[in-house]
Amino acid sequence: MSKLNIRGIGHYIPDTLISNDELSRIMDTSDEWITKRTGIKTRYVSSNDDTSILAFEAAKRALEDANITIEEIDLVICATITPDDFTPSVACKLLKYFKTDKIMALDINAACSGFVYALNVASSLLEANGFKYALVVGAEKLSKLLDYNDRSTAILFGDGAGACVVSADENNAYFYCKAKGDTNDVLYASGVKGSKPLNNSCCEDYYLKMNGREVYRFAVDALDDAITSILNKSQMTIEDIDYIVPHQANIRIIDQVAKQMNIPYEKVLTNLNKFGNTSAASIPLLLSEAYNENKIKKGDNVLLAGFGAGLTWASAIIKM
Ligand code: UT7
Repeated sequence: MSKLNIRGIGHYIPDTLISNDELSRIMDTSDEWITKRTGIKTRYVSSNDDTSILAFEAAKRALEDANITIEEIDLVICATITPDDFTPSVACKLLKYFKTDKIMALDINAACSGFVYALNVASSLLEANGFKYALVVGAEKLSKLLDYNDRSTAILFGDGAGACVVSADENNAYFYCKAKGDTNDVLYASGVKGSKPLNNSCCEDYYLKMNGREVYRFAVDALDDAITSILNKSQMTIEDIDYIVPHQANIRIIDQVAKQMNIPYEKVLTNLNKFGNTSAASIPLLLSEAYNENKIKKGDNVLLAGFGAGLTWASAIIKM
C-alpha cells in the first residue's frame, strides 16, 4: 500500500478549438462518423505553444489551488510522449519557467497511462527520499505528431495539460502499473533512427501510427484488467468507489467496459466529446475539470485507469 494526498489540482486547455465539421473540410470524414465511432465532437490544439508551456499553465493552476509555492516542491514529474525536445525534459523546462532549482525533475513516457505511472513514481519517491511535495503533470501537444492526411488518427487526438500537487502522508493509495511489448507495432511514433553517423538526414516520418481495431481490442481488455486488478489489490468493490476517471480514447471502449463489468454509468466520468484523446493529459484534465465543477469532492474515492502505447496500462485508487 502507498500514501498519496492530492493537495491541489489544475488544468489548461490550449487556444484553438477544432470541430468535426472543420476536419471534414480537410479530409474524407464527417461529424456523423466521428461522433458515432468515437464520441468526440471537438478537440483543442495549441497554435503556438509547445508541450512545456501547456504543462507550465496547468502546473501554475495546481500550485495556486494547493496554496503552495514552487519553492516548497521537492520533485517535479511530467508524463508526456510529446516533449518539446529530446533534452532537456519538460520537467526541467518547468524549473526554468518557474525560475527555481535544486529540485529532482524527470519525465515519464508511458503514453496514455503516463499520469498514473507518474503518481505511482511520485508516491514512492516522496516516501523514499523524505520529500514533502511533488508536482505531477500530464501534458501533450499531440497535434505535432498527427498526420492530417491520415483520417484514422487525425480525428482522435487533441492537446492539453493537467497537474496535481501531491504529498505522501495521510491517505492510503493503491497503484497497479503494467506494460508489455507492442509485438505487432499497433501504436507508435518513430523517433530519429540512429544508424547514420556523419550524415545529417533525419526524421523521415515521425507521425503517430495506429492499427485502430487492434488497439481497440487491447484497450477493452486493458481497461477491464486495470479496474478489476486495482479493486482486488485494494480489497474494495465498485460500491466503495465514488467515481471512475478512465483514459479518454473512445466512448465505445468506456461504455463496453462499464457494461461488461456492471459499473453504474453515473460513476464513470467522460469529457472526450470536448477534448478528444489527450494521452497523458487526459486523466488529470478530466479529474481537474470534475473537481472544479464540484462533481468530485474532497474525501471521494476515485479510481483512475489508463491504457495506451507501449503497450501500457495502469490504475490507481486515490482519496481526493
Ligand atoms: O489512447 C491510445 C489508445 N487508442 C485507442 O484506444 C484507439 C482505439 N481504436 C479506436 O478507437 C477505433 O478503432 C477507431 C475510432 C480508431 C476506428 O473505429 P473503428 O470502428 O475501429 O473503424 P475501422 O478502423 O474498423 O474502420 C471502419 C471504416 C473503414 O472503411 P471500410 O474499410 O469499412 O470502407 C475506414 O476506412 O471506417 C473508415 N474510417 C473512416 N471513415 C470516416 C476510418 N477512419 C475514418 C474517418 N472518417 N475518420
